[in-house]
Amino acid sequence: MNADLKHEKGVNMITYAWDETYAVDVEILDQQHKVIFDSLRKISCALADGSDTGSVPSLLDAFDIYCKVHFFDEERVMETAGFPHLELHRKQHELFIHGLETFKASHSFRTSSAQDEFVTMAEWFIRHVVTYDREYADFL
Ligand SMILES: [Fe+2]
Ligand SMILES: [Fe+2]
Repeated sequence: MNADLKHEKGVNMITYAWDETYAVDVEILDQQHKVIFDSLRKISCALADGSDTGSVPSLLDAFDIYCKVHFFDEERVMETAGFPHLELHRKQHELFIHGLETFKASHSFRTSSAQDEFVTMAEWFIRHVVTYDREYADFL
């Protein structure tokens, strides 16, 4: 767990709990962020519970699709608003999806390294919301 991130941003890294302070004030995007935080928690729990790793591939497949939908919707909002850092933001989304798909394709989900790798991805996502998504939210 990243103690600095938890301290600086008030992010509950244990439960991946969404918080009102993360709101971007676009209703559909805030709803999607909540669903994604829930998914991060569910997948982390499944990875941590060795007896439940059989559910991980289907959870990851659903998470992958949901993230793509969210990123598409978010990029459309930024595009409509003329957000100047859209291309940089889009690249970050692409990096996340690439990392997620590599993770899906290359792991036995029963290993501790798989858990650590997913925690890193979850931290990346939360950091993305509280810093980069905040940028477009402030621009809108
Ligand atoms: Fe987002
Ligand atoms: Fe984003």
